[in-house]
Amino acid sequence: MSEGHNFEVPPKSHEPQIIEIVLEKGEIESAKILEGYFPVKAIKIKDDGRALFKPSMGEFQEIRKKLFSRVDLELLAFELDKILGFNLVPPVVAREIGGEKGVLQQRMEARPYETPDDYELPDLVGWSDMVDSEEILKAAVFDHIIGAKDRHGGNFLIDIPNKKIWLIDHDYLMFFQKVGYGSDMVRAALNRDMVDISGDIRTALENLLGAIDSLMLKFEGGESAKILLGVKTRTEELLQTNKIPNLV
Ligand SMILES: Nc1ncnc2c1ncn2[C@@H]1O[C@H](COP(=O)(O)OP(=O)(O)O)[C@@H](O)[C@H]1O
Ligand SMILES: [Mg+2]
Repeated sequence: MSEGHNFEVPPKSHEPQIIEIVLEKGEIESAKILEGYFPVKAIKIKDDGRALFKPSMGEFQEIRKKLFSRVDLELLAFELDKILGFNLVPPVVAREIGGEKGVLQQRMEARPYETPDDYELPDLVGWSDMVDSEEILKAAVFDHIIGAKDRHGGNFLIDIPNKKIWLIDHDYLMFFQKVGYGSDMVRAALNRDMVDISGDIRTALENLLGAIDSLMLKFEGGESAKILLGVKTRTEELLQTNKIPNLV
């Protein structure tokens, strides 16, 4: 890719994509703290665009004695999205940068933008009218089955020209918070009464169920196993009821 180009949207496939290889092996040109988001670092990859590095050992991990790893949780969320073919989670890989282990994720051109000057902020009011309704339904299904507990405006991005949603920040709080925030995706779908599952989404859920056992082998950690059990139960339920439930 020539300089200044960004990554392309990945095709739907389970094989590692060029983007993932770039993230894994690309030469790091610069790394600096993303303003306001320590310890997240903004990364430039030589010739191949921009990424964000999210170290594994953030403050919550330290507090909770490193019982879990952000790396596994972020990779698991990406893998679930890939199997579903929803294309909602930006490509992310495990990588060590500057002696720190973490994940490197493709940085999407999407709101919230880097500088508040790009758009007047707060700017997420009315976001659900700026994306395709199919995106909202897929994102609500995804968040429902992963049991998303922290999907507020800081943890999703919207790409207005493409009417697309990106889901980010699959960390401990997203999966295990006690009194969680829940999900703005699920709420948006419920508000629009867009809760019926059919066609492609049903097929995606069936594919996911078929892949759960191999995912359990691939992601061995206790936290991942807990997440996957929940995913399995909720996916089975969805396939029976064909409806995202209103749990609020
Ligand atoms: N893949 C991404 N592409 C573009 N911006 C992102 C991406 N991931 C995170 N961001 C931006 O960085 C912020 C912090 O990232 P996040 O994953 O939410 O980490 P944390 O909340 O744990 O600091 C997000 O609110 C968003 O503005
Ligand atoms: Mg966040």
